[in-house]
Amino acid sequence: KATPITFSGIQPTGHPHLGNYLGAISNWVTLQEEAYQAKETVLFSIVDLHAITLPQDPEKLRKERREMAITLLACGVDPKKCILFEQSKVSGHAELTWLLNCMTPVGWLARMTQWKAKMGVTKGSQSLEDVEATKGLQLGLFAYPVLMAADVLLYKATKIPVGEDQIQHLELARDVAQTFNKMVKTPFFPLPQPKITETKRIMSLRDPTNKMSKSDASDQTRINLVDSPDLISSKIKRAVTDGIRGISYDQTNRPAVANLIRIYAAMKRVSVEDVVREHADSSTAAFKEALADVLITSLKPIQDEMARLEKEDAYVQSVLDDGAAKAAEIAIPNLQEAQRLLGL
Ligand code: ADP
Ligand code: NA
Repeated sequence: KATPITFSGIQPTGHPHLGNYLGAISNWVTLQEEAYQAKETVLFSIVDLHAITLPQDPEKLRKERREMAITLLACGVDPKKCILFEQSKVSGHAELTWLLNCMTPVGWLARMTQWKAKMGVTKGSQSLEDVEATKGLQLGLFAYPVLMAADVLLYKATKIPVGEDQIQHLELARDVAQTFNKMVKTPFFPLPQPKITETKRIMSLRDPTNKMSKSDASDQTRINLVDSPDLISSKIKRAVTDGIRGISYDQTNRPAVANLIRIYAAMKRVSVEDVVREHADSSTAAFKEALADVLITSLKPIQDEMARLEKEDAYVQSVLDDGAAKAAEIAIPNLQEAQRLLGL
């Protein structure tokens, strides 16, 4: 029996922020360590083909791809323990997508929520026949979930770390895999399984009902991993809180403070209870100062390593080249067999 393969991807768009770090990148490092102990293969992909499903400025995308690679390495993604590569450099992703496109019903994609969300479709029938809803919808954005299916099936990956919002896409990947298997009368693709990661959802510093996101127009809503100590201090100082005295964890009545407590706990690797115990009698101003200190201290080694890697262009490129070669080694035989099964 083949050992399980893990696949996960991250888009190289915008500056990586604290939400990306606590919600995704730090989980990758944990997964990598677990897999390394178990002698399993883990593939981490900078999914640049997904990034271009929305218009990108080429020069900016080039910079962001490099920044993401450097960020991942600085955060502890270790090319000795995982395969780190750029999606566009393993042509099998695009090639398998085409094979899968040819057997994916358009109706399945029409039901997906992501193209609607990215198009800002919030009303109306939200169906493909709705001309308003689909105005400006490119085929690539619409077919994005098929590319995601190809990402995991290309490696016959079965362990797929996903957040709640990605479950719909993983189900589509399973349906596509089953359609392929039925068509070729062979259980060729194993069905990918969601590995629901306990995700720490980090909210905007200015509005605790919104998640911290790089697509938020205001930079004050997020801590970017590259933010200077002064900038971190001022953003935290101006984060919204409430008029309630002391520090207590109450997601319903004190969502903004709860978010700050979660950030503190996650960065210091202590429990929420410990944070509350330590700061119960602090003013919010004092707690914010302590939080800024924790952020500045814990981001420092990451920032130092990023600064070092900025100057190691050849090294970073060699990591990505090696990663692409190793990924292709797994992908090529799978792609060739998929083609053969289809009569190609
Ligand atoms: P953004 O919303 O900033 O554009 P992405 O959608 O590119 O971020 O997400 C990249 C990864 O980071 C995903 O795994 C996503 O679940 C995670 N992530 C993004 N924002 C947050 C957040 N605020 N809290 C926790 N995880 C997040
Ligand atoms: Na997003």
